[in-house]
Amino acid sequence: MTVAMLKLKKTDLTPRIGTEIRSDIETLLSGKYAADLRETLEQRGVLVFRGLDLTEDQQTAFAKTMGKLMLQGNKEVLSISLDKSVNGALADYLIGSFYWHIDMAMEDVPSRACFLVARKLSDTGGDTLFANTYAAWDDLPESEKKTLEKLRVVHTFENSQRVFKPIPTYAELKAWQEFKRPKVHPLVWTHQSGRKSLVLGTTASHVEGMSLEEGRLLLCKLQDWATQPQFVYGHKWNVGDLLVWDNTGTMHRAEPYPIDSGRLMTRATLEGEERVA
Ligand code: SIN
Repeated sequence: MTVAMLKLKKTDLTPRIGTEIRSDIETLLSGKYAADLRETLEQRGVLVFRGLDLTEDQQTAFAKTMGKLMLQGNKEVLSISLDKSVNGALADYLIGSFYWHIDMAMEDVPSRACFLVARKLSDTGGDTLFANTYAAWDDLPESEKKTLEKLRVVHTFENSQRVFKPIPTYAELKAWQEFKRPKVHPLVWTHQSGRKSLVLGTTASHVEGMSLEEGRLLLCKLQDWATQPQFVYGHKWNVGDLLVWDNTGTMHRAEPYPIDSGRLMTRATLEGEERVA
């Protein structure tokens, strides 16, 4: 085995999703393996780096080796915390992270990938779960795929908020509806690579041209399908772990944890590169 091969070791964590990468900070920041890691990320959905303990500057520097860093507000790194003293109004919105979602699913071009580092953990809950939406599509019966490929799904911000606030006030509902106009995406994303993935999650409200009941039932059935254990990797965090996920071929959610738990993660995000089409 050559020295170069020892600098990056990959171990698949489940058959369909998640690969652990063992390496060192210098090697990762050099960008030497960036293309290899991007390819592994697309194939495996999630990369796990245990105990890497990156500073925020190293976190963004590593992200930049793999794509174009996106500003979140005006920051390169966003704090993920439910504590209002850390995050203000964003803390309420982040409760939505307890439910399966694709980041920026209300956009034409959702973000490409996220780099999440654990800074402080909750005593209970707080694992992060990922579902491989490429694998979920691949395993659907061929007879169903033909019909599903033609469908278009209406995504609304309201739908993503109702999961944790089922009965909003008039002012809240109006604010949600004004914040983002509904977005229509194909149910099945045909990526430029030719691979296909399901576009689901909490923003998915109903199916164009179907009755509300029929469309919602179908989305519910597909969501159950896509989040079966064989498509899911759940990460039990230690402080200093880094997870990178392909936001275009996975959904994710955090196991609920107490708002006052002190859990704190930092997240860097890569700009999207491809329209949902
Ligand atoms: C997220 O949804 O981006 C955050 C996930 C987490 O806090 O585990």
